[in-house]
Amino acid sequence: MQILMNLSARASFPTKGVGMDAKDLKYFVRAGVSLIYVTALDQEVFLDWFDGNVADMIFQEKPKAEKAAKKCAVYEWSLGTGLIVRDPLAQEKPSSNQATSGIGPALAKVMGLCGAEERMIVLIRDVMQILGRGGVQSSPDLVAISKIRDIVSRTSITFIFLSNINVLPSWMEREVVVLDWPLPTMEQHRQFFQDIQEGYVSDEPDSKNKEKMKIQIDVLDEETMRDVCKAAQGLTQQEDLWAASYSIMKNKKIVPAVISEMKKQNICKSGFLEWVEQPEHIEDVGGMDELKRWLNLRRAIFTQEARDFGIDDPKGILMIGIPGVGKSLACKAIAHVWNMPLIRLDMGKLFSATVGSSEANTRNMLSTVEAVAPCVLFIDEIEKGLSGIKSSNNSDAGVTARVAATILQWLQDKKQPVFVAATANDIASLPPEMTRRGRWDEMFFTDLPNRTEREMIFRIHLRKRRRDPDALNLNFEQLTDATKGYTGAEIEQIVVISLIDAFCSKKEVTQTGLLKAVGEVTRMFDTMKESIDALKDWVAIKDGQGTRARLASTYQAEG
Ligand SMILES: Nc1ncnc2c1ncn2[C@@H]1O[C@H](COP(=O)(O)OP(=O)(O)OP(=O)(O)O)[C@@H](O)[C@H]1O
Ligand SMILES: [Mg+2]
Repeated sequence: MQILMNLSARASFPTKGVGMDAKDLKYFVRAGVSLIYVTALDQEVFLDWFDGNVADMIFQEKPKAEKAAKKCAVYEWSLGTGLIVRDPLAQEKPSSNQATSGIGPALAKVMGLCGAEERMIVLIRDVMQILGRGGVQSSPDLVAISKIRDIVSRTSITFIFLSNINVLPSWMEREVVVLDWPLPTMEQHRQFFQDIQEGYVSDEPDSKNKEKMKIQIDVLDEETMRDVCKAAQGLTQQEDLWAASYSIMKNKKIVPAVISEMKKQNICKSGFLEWVEQPEHIEDVGGMDELKRWLNLRRAIFTQEARDFGIDDPKGILMIGIPGVGKSLACKAIAHVWNMPLIRLDMGKLFSATVGSSEANTRNMLSTVEAVAPCVLFIDEIEKGLSGIKSSNNSDAGVTARVAATILQWLQDKKQPVFVAATANDIASLPPEMTRRGRWDEMFFTDLPNRTEREMIFRIHLRKRRRDPDALNLNFEQLTDATKGYTGAEIEQIVVISLIDAFCSKKEVTQTGLLKAVGEVTRMFDTMKESIDALKDWVAIKDGQGTRARLASTYQAEG
């Protein structure tokens, strides 16, 4: 940790990021705001910055640090240390004050100290102890909260809650200013990795880690360093240090893949998110030419150049359509087209876990995703999670509704380039605000594949199973005739069945075999005609600007 502190002190600190930046903390403290909540994944880096800026926080004109130290007292409370003075200039760290390890006695002590100092800041570290875990069923320490409210109403003390996640209960949100401490920028990662490398190549003895000096490392060239920094986006400096040190021990250099691995682990830890290793290839999506054109046009859109040109980062798309037409497949392929990581959100898990952990879970999940940006967030069957909104007040004390509101709000306000690719089958169970104009960059409707698209899908699935469609001597006209009204998933099933039949009879896939398999696959179209018609009706309703959703394919639909 010492290494981290020293190195981080040398780095320049973030001034831009999610939410308000570090300078804002200064203004809020100066303005006399008494309750401030700082979420910082890099807590040590934040504290380092805080220590260096605390004098500036209190006074408009920068006094000498010594003078400021006399006029302002900073205390810190955590369960482990109790209430102690925080003085970065002190030679030794103060010993813990066990008598104040409980928040009650600590607050009583704060009250007692009040008046002795001109200005007082109290940093509260173990926030969950007071605020609970941020869920409906978690229990905040109401006595402590009431006491803090009482103190701030009678004094000019500023309380700064410091936590790696936001666990503020929603009923307290309006009383507290919430600030996010941004994760390191690319430049800060670069500085940090260079410092780590220098630590290994330097001749100066490292008193802490003598073994370290014995390793000869390969110093990265400019291009690999850029890859390493790109891979590190979304990591804290602590994580940079762990991953880089591990990589150096194992490979004698910092390897981009090891840094990415750290990020994947963070995604998996959330429990609701999955890092999809091999997104689908866009070439494996049959048809949907209009969607493909739309995606291709936006290939270079997440760049600084595009931003400088005045283009906002795209928000996302909602794919609606009947089951089995390749909505999920197309969403997954977006990550491939844009060469971005693909992260899948399990809405079902998120909602079933929300009772007892609520919106805080959702907010944290969203910030985990933002930390990986630029990326594609794939939300499959979004309506499954959102369908309980209407009855939410009766069934779960409004948790589902609030979680849904948090997600919708985030879709609107997100600052990081996270492209949301969502799918929905049942438009009726989606809340209207989900499909209103402007919520998404585009809503695409995926219809049943027409003749041309069916041939493409046949070819894709034969090729995927190591067959050259042109070498099989097939009559695609006949095959596409026979499969009118079939979905892509059903065509895939036809190919699979014919392959199994061919294998069992020790023959190659043939036209007859494929046609026989067509007879064995029932068209969903026949059993779901009504809901398909209802969906098409919804899409086609004009609202003055064409259909409600853009057609994913320009190929003429069949009657
Ligand atoms: N247009 C297509 N091109 C190639 N393969 C397709 C296409 N449509 C469907 N498939 C095949 O069918 C499988 C299932 O499709 P997918 O899950 O993407 O459909 P969906 O529209 O998301 O259905 P659901 O609404 O049931 O989730 C795909 O993995 C793919 O193998
Ligand atoms: Mg799907």
